[in-house]
Amino acid sequence: MKKNIIPHSYQISVTDRQDLNGHNSFLLWFTGLSGSGKSTIANVVEQKLHQKGIKTYTLDGDNIRKGINKDLTFAPEDRTENIRRIAEIAHLMVDAGLVTLAAFVSPYKKDRENIRSIVKDVNFVEVYINTSVEECERRDVKGLYKKARAGEIKNMTGISAPYEAPETPDIEIKTEHESVEAAAQRIVEYITPKLSSNDE
Ligand code: ADX
Repeated sequence: MKKNIIPHSYQISVTDRQDLNGHNSFLLWFTGLSGSGKSTIANVVEQKLHQKGIKTYTLDGDNIRKGINKDLTFAPEDRTENIRRIAEIAHLMVDAGLVTLAAFVSPYKKDRENIRSIVKDVNFVEVYINTSVEECERRDVKGLYKKARAGEIKNMTGISAPYEAPETPDIEIKTEHESVEAAAQRIVEYITPKLSSNDE
């Protein structure tokens, strides 16, 4: 089947779209435990970029797992498929010229490496939201840790399923020591040179 798929060559390229937008496009990937603060920080980063006239879009568990990935569970092979599909969607968004933010637990190192190869290394910025499981459990914003402790949720990351922390993330945020505002500001400062650089 695949051998009969021949991509059409379109005249408008990603560079044309980036030129029109006046900035580069790439993927800002937030990884960390449930309740670590990924979406909260991504949300503030997106607002700051939006205010600077940057075209953005945010993908997170709520808009993806309720729609295109609603057939997937939290079993390891489904998490891998979840991340693979998101990486492909993000790749299209980067190709469309958007600074794409993605906030997913993404607990497996091999799955995050796969994102890097799908969107290309140069387009991938890994942000590790490092909040201890003790603190996530204390916050328990969604009540999921309580349910996991009670055995009502299987495969809960940090409790009954692994989280493989990034060893060399581009940015690491320790939310127990840094405010949301300061973290978001640091992320924006980190990516600012990437917005205008021409390296591919
Ligand atoms: S991932 O592991 O496949 O990357 P994803 O980011 O899409 O996970 O979804 C995580 C969100 O789903 C969590 O923030 C939490 O709200 C919810 N959730 C429900 N069950 C689990 C579970 N077993 N482990 C982790 N998160 C869960």
